[in-house]
Amino acid sequence: MQEVDKTTLPLEVSKVIFGEDEIQEAVKRIGEQITQDYAGQKVLLVTVLKGAFIFMADLVRAIKGDVEIDFMAVSSYGDGSKSSGVVRIIKDLNASVEGRHVIIVEDILDSGLTLTYLLRNLKSRKPLSIEVATLLFKEGKQQANIRCKYIGLMCPDEFVVGYGLDYNESYRNLPYIGALDASAYEQ
Ligand code: PRP
Repeated sequence: MQEVDKTTLPLEVSKVIFGEDEIQEAVKRIGEQITQDYAGQKVLLVTVLKGAFIFMADLVRAIKGDVEIDFMAVSSYGDGSKSSGVVRIIKDLNASVEGRHVIIVEDILDSGLTLTYLLRNLKSRKPLSIEVATLLFKEGKQQANIRCKYIGLMCPDEFVVGYGLDYNESYRNLPYIGALDASAYEQ
């Protein structure tokens, strides 16, 4: 993993967990898998805003094939640090998913509550197939048994920010993924 100068980390970020090179390797690998799996078929990538926007932007360029993208915005985190269990749609898709090959693109699978809801919701719209691609997978955290076909990196159980992931809407622009210092969110 390439080194990031510690003195340049934001005050609330205690360390780098995944550097830029490691992230790009994972994105490239998923892109190649999707290219192979959907050869000759058009696939609709459903991006879950906001966190997945950077992953999607890189992933779509790593796929050699016919892809369409669309966006959904949902909210699952209540207080900025813990899943609330309440998922609501803030923005729905423009595209119809009926009869389409769909991949849900997520930045992180944590409790799995968001994806459980999304899978149930999108399956009811009768896609031809539906899979999940997540950049980060928090091991052992899922309350639901979700079949996730494309996983980028196994993530330690820390509050992670950067590469699209936020804390109170900050840090999404960090090019790496770092751990938020616990003092930032624990009173
Ligand atoms: C985050 C993340 C996933 C979800 C994962 O979104 O982007 O969508 O939480 O958590 P879960 O597996 O515990 O449900 P968040 O609600 O923070 O919105 P954001 O992407 O706009 O930051």
